[in-house]
Amino acid sequence: MGKRGNGGAPEHVAIIMDGNGRWAQARGKPRLFGHHAGAKRVREIVEACPDLGVKYLTIFAFSTENWKRTQTEVSGLMKLFKRYLMSETKQLVEAGVRVRFIGDRIRLDETLVALMDELELLTCANDRVHLTVALNYGGRDEVTRAAKRLCRDVAAGKVDPEKVDAEELARHLDTYVLPDPDLVIRTSGEARISNFLLWQSAYSEYEFIDTLWPDFTREEFARVLADFSQRERRYGAVPG
Ligand code: IPE
Ligand code: IPE
Ligand code: MG
Repeated sequence: MGKRGNGGAPEHVAIIMDGNGRWAQARGKPRLFGHHAGAKRVREIVEACPDLGVKYLTIFAFSTENWKRTQTEVSGLMKLFKRYLMSETKQLVEAGVRVRFIGDRIRLDETLVALMDELELLTCANDRVHLTVALNYGGRDEVTRAAKRLCRDVAAGKVDPEKVDAEELARHLDTYVLPDPDLVIRTSGEARISNFLLWQSAYSEYEFIDTLWPDFTREEFARVLADFSQRERRYGAVPG
């Protein structure tokens, strides 16, 4: 069952886009300046996906823990998300990108949620690249919400509790339509997952790179993918 890097690209890449704050600080600017620079990077990486053989790209934009930041930073980020969605819609539609959002929408303001819904709808027939944006997303929160939905289904008599297995639980996750990520990249030198895709990354490969997110280029992305293609994935089996 050993699978040598499939000789090529990962089908699904997930990215923890970290380091915006430090990038701004290094320039003597406020943290939001770094978030704006970081948002500008996203397009280049999304556009690189088809050429690099990546079908699914999932990006961590805001975690369930990021509400702990100052009110200025949080509200600045929310404003940036709204502006970004409005300004990128046309380009995403035309580039054949299918956009989805994961995370709990309950805490997001209604203007933002409306923009998210609209973008999902406008791009729902696209299939060139599948971009998933994790917004107010936390792995534990997602599994907890999935468990809650499953309990409701059991209570309603729709699911037999004896038949609950990993697949059944996965069907209740926000990511139910997506394959598991093959590769998770984190920028900025931190070697932790910070509550990102806990369930889905059980057998993902990880790449922790020092570059701060606003400096992450298409060329570096290609290098990280080339490194991935050399890896041997075993999924618990004997190397083959
Ligand atoms: C990642 O950059 C973006 C978000 C969490 C929204 P950070 O804001 O965490 O930047 P650093 O880690 O403080 O440099
Ligand atoms: C993870 O980065 C969240 C996002 C990139 C959106 P953080 O900067 O919030 O993670 P910690 O606090 O360093 O673990
Ligand atoms: Mg950070």
